[in-house]
Amino acid sequence: MSFDRPLASELEPVEIASREEIAALQLSRLRATVKLAYERVPHMRQKFADAGVHPDDLRELGDFAHFPFTTKEDLRTTYPYGMFAVPMDDIVRLHASSGTTGKPTVVGYTQNDIDTWAGLMARSIRAAGGSRSDIVHVTHGYGLFTGGLGVHYGAERLGCTVVPISGGQTARQVQLIQDFKATMIIGTPSYVLNIVDEFERQGIDPRSTSLKRGMFGGEPWGEETRRELETRLGIQAMDLYGLSELIGPGVAAECIESRGGPTIWEDHFYPEIIDPVTGVVLPDGEEGELVFTSLTKEALPMVRYRTRDLARLLPPTARSFRRLGKITGRTDDMLIIRGVNVFPSQIGELVLKMPQLSPHYQLEITRTGHLDEMAVQVELKPDLAALAATGREVVAKELQHHIKGLVGITTRVRIMDTGGVERSTGKARRVIDRREKKT
Ligand code: DLL
Repeated sequence: MSFDRPLASELEPVEIASREEIAALQLSRLRATVKLAYERVPHMRQKFADAGVHPDDLRELGDFAHFPFTTKEDLRTTYPYGMFAVPMDDIVRLHASSGTTGKPTVVGYTQNDIDTWAGLMARSIRAAGGSRSDIVHVTHGYGLFTGGLGVHYGAERLGCTVVPISGGQTARQVQLIQDFKATMIIGTPSYVLNIVDEFERQGIDPRSTSLKRGMFGGEPWGEETRRELETRLGIQAMDLYGLSELIGPGVAAECIESRGGPTIWEDHFYPEIIDPVTGVVLPDGEEGELVFTSLTKEALPMVRYRTRDLARLLPPTARSFRRLGKITGRTDDMLIIRGVNVFPSQIGELVLKMPQLSPHYQLEITRTGHLDEMAVQVELKPDLAALAATGREVVAKELQHHIKGLVGITTRVRIMDTGGVERSTGKARRVIDRREKKT
């Protein structure tokens, strides 16, 4: 697939600059961001004062660790516009993340921010091997979610033909991928796997389409999911990372030359990994919570935003920028079951390793007395629908055994028929927690 690689002449000079040049650019942009937040956002000025720091204290990159973190809570307490650094007249777009509890998180963009975003998404698609020759089928939701419009503007900027189908109407997606001869698909891995199922349900070989590549993100996915997408759809599956608070999709993207985790667009976002408990900055290579500072955003400068994503920073490969290791979970995703820390994605990867099971699963947590219990609901592959109860029991036992071995907890596994596990057109809901919430 080497013909898909961007030519050296297509890369922006900063993508192949020296680390010294990148560090110098980051420092000057960090200083500008910190100054902007301090001068224009009263909430941030107060936080700086509480932490005893002033923008002038940022003389070298090492000084940055003294600056306070920003959390989702800051966005909630200043809801809806209190973190904006420009007057509303200069805001041309709003997006919001649903937020499972309480108020949504609102993010705003100036026209320059929208242009920067389109440029970064175009860079991301190109890095993943896409080009203006691609017909891009976008299944991300269009609306307040940043996925659809974010990808859309980037694909248009690159000159691709965009099919803005959004999520849902899965049977129609199957038809339009074929009719419009899409060569690239961009969506959440779980929803695209639903589309693959639909192809098979209709008796069409999903590998027979014109699709050559895909970019997947918006939710955690691992190497087993990559293998599943690549073999069942006959494509190259590349990782696309982002979050609304920073810009949306296009914070980092996997490069086709090297894969091995998304390359962080470090000229626009400054990454740090911290110990989630102490807040201390960890060296590259160590796992911890990912923290980002925006370097060029106008409307919503973000200083040391705690993403809650757990990951590692990896050395550069195809570009001069560092890469992100696979997101292994989120600090707020972590379930504690009888004292054992459990990340839903760990269970997901075990499900995918079993050839009898489909990638659709959901975890249900209940509490009887003081004891937490976890049930795993998972579907059989459609071609095993006729499997008898005893056969299902064997499959359930095997998954239970793997979970006990890797994660260390005893679970109940319920083997369902195709369609038995709730489907989503966007991010999959992996956990239903029926324990009473502490107030
Ligand atoms: O999900 C932005 C996005 C849209 C990224 C489409 C990629 C593609 P939020 O709704 O704010 O924004 O959710 C951000 O989703 O902190 C991660 O926990 C998770 N996430 C996003 N991309 C990935 C990925 C969008 N590639 C949150 N791998 C993030 C793992 C991801 N997790």
